[in-house]
Amino acid sequence: MQILYVVSEVAPWIKTGGLADVAAGLPKALHQAGADIRLLIPGYADLLAQTDGLRLWATLRLRDVPARILETNLPSGIPVYILECPGFADRHGNPYMKPDGHAWDDNAQRFNRLALAAAAFANDQLSFHPHILHLNDWHTGLVPVHVLQHPPQRPVRTLFTIHNLAYQGIFPAHLLPQLGIQPRWMTIDGLEFHGQLSFIKGGIALADHITTVSPSYAQEIQTPAYGEGLDGLLRSRAHHLSGILNGIDAELWNPATDPYLTHHFSAQHLHGKKYNKTALRHTLGFPKTGKKKPLVAMITRFAAQKGLDLVIEALPELMGRPLELVILGSGDSGLEEALKRAVAPFSQRIALQLGYDEALAHHIEAGADMFLMPSRFEPCGLNQLYSLRYGTVPIARATGGLRDTIVDANAQNLAKGTASGFLFEEPTARSMLHAVDRALALYHEPSIWKTMMRCGMAIECSWATSAAAYLQLYRELLARPGSRWGARALLP
Ligand code: ADP
Ligand code: GLC
Repeated sequence: MQILYVVSEVAPWIKTGGLADVAAGLPKALHQAGADIRLLIPGYADLLAQTDGLRLWATLRLRDVPARILETNLPSGIPVYILECPGFADRHGNPYMKPDGHAWDDNAQRFNRLALAAAAFANDQLSFHPHILHLNDWHTGLVPVHVLQHPPQRPVRTLFTIHNLAYQGIFPAHLLPQLGIQPRWMTIDGLEFHGQLSFIKGGIALADHITTVSPSYAQEIQTPAYGEGLDGLLRSRAHHLSGILNGIDAELWNPATDPYLTHHFSAQHLHGKKYNKTALRHTLGFPKTGKKKPLVAMITRFAAQKGLDLVIEALPELMGRPLELVILGSGDSGLEEALKRAVAPFSQRIALQLGYDEALAHHIEAGADMFLMPSRFEPCGLNQLYSLRYGTVPIARATGGLRDTIVDANAQNLAKGTASGFLFEEPTARSMLHAVDRALALYHEPSIWKTMMRCGMAIECSWATSAAAYLQLYRELLARPGSRWGARALLP
């Protein structure tokens, strides 16, 4: 089976969030499971500059624009096609935003080029002939429409994975002709969203199948509370919508071998973890006197999704508890400023680390006792998985992937010995504080706490399980005739 995995970022080359980790991990596992999977990614200037051994593989025209496809391999060996064309190759920095935090003005044209290139694969204009185009997030949302406008001569299926419904790629409708999209797609069942052009609707309405990155999120987005205005459409596609949980790179995130760590540990040899805590507290400049207090951590993008407003609201009360807090993150400048102001009175017990720091992220996962994720929504979330593996007990909002991966320490689960963390239902400061208090109470019961740590560390979250589910889905899609719900309604 040949699969083209189309995605806008991939670790370690270009990363703004978990999507890049998924783009590295899932294809690798699919390859190990026997699939011929290759990536198609945009050739951003920063990516071209750091990638060795690029070979020219093909040239093509994407409407009025000349483009080249360069070929190379990820560090894992997976083949990658890099789309080199205007809009990507000519600018540095964030793939989606200008340095001032606003979207690049030509995002519609840029990511439409990615979609046109993917469609060229489906139409056999290039020498790799995928059966499945596996598309990810709004950046790839126009692929199904381009494929449907020029239907391939052989069975090709499109699968659209929603990693985050909150980012939709909404643009003015007048761009349609420029992008090469016929007006007939601009309907409520197609690309139209409140009079504008929605890239993500292209994926949701027109792909053969939709997945999200956890079963709970697949359900949640069919409700008005989580549907971001698209819950009706998602409900109408419920038969072609499923949730497959992400995995993690179990080699990269293994406390027994993690190259970022000096002191390794495992479920059998937990004692190494405390040396990591000592080293981390030293790095963060915490006074020696606080070493008995539990260290609570957050590593996050500063975005409304992540519930930092709850932390800011709860902070005065939270710091009334015997604990220390480390927050590593970057993003929204308003949230950053608000956090800075909120933590200032507690500088002895809170370390706010602004920026993006992979090494520090590993040290925090290894050295902290608890991990806080009060997300308002969380399609999957990777940090709770890293935390579980590192014996850093998560305290998280019961939503999306957090609900699906953390077993709450209620009386029943504690009695069964299956509890691995603390979940709270309501997205409120009160509810979060209550969960923190439950965690603090059990932290002082070492045998229960160790059982919880070990439970988390034993979690099966390798990519192999997800890859098996995707392979099964690809096979079903190829066996399923004419499943294009939206397309059938729209085709002439
Ligand atoms: P999202 O994609 O919504 O940001 P995920 O939990 O899926 O959330 O993935 C976030 C990824 O980014 C994880 O690999 C996490 O470790 C990493 N990350 C986020 N912020 C930082 C940071 N400031 N420094 C280092 N790694 C970070
Ligand atoms: C998104 C989501 C996150 C998920 C990641 C990878 O960025 O916010 O929950 O883990 O994609 O699928």
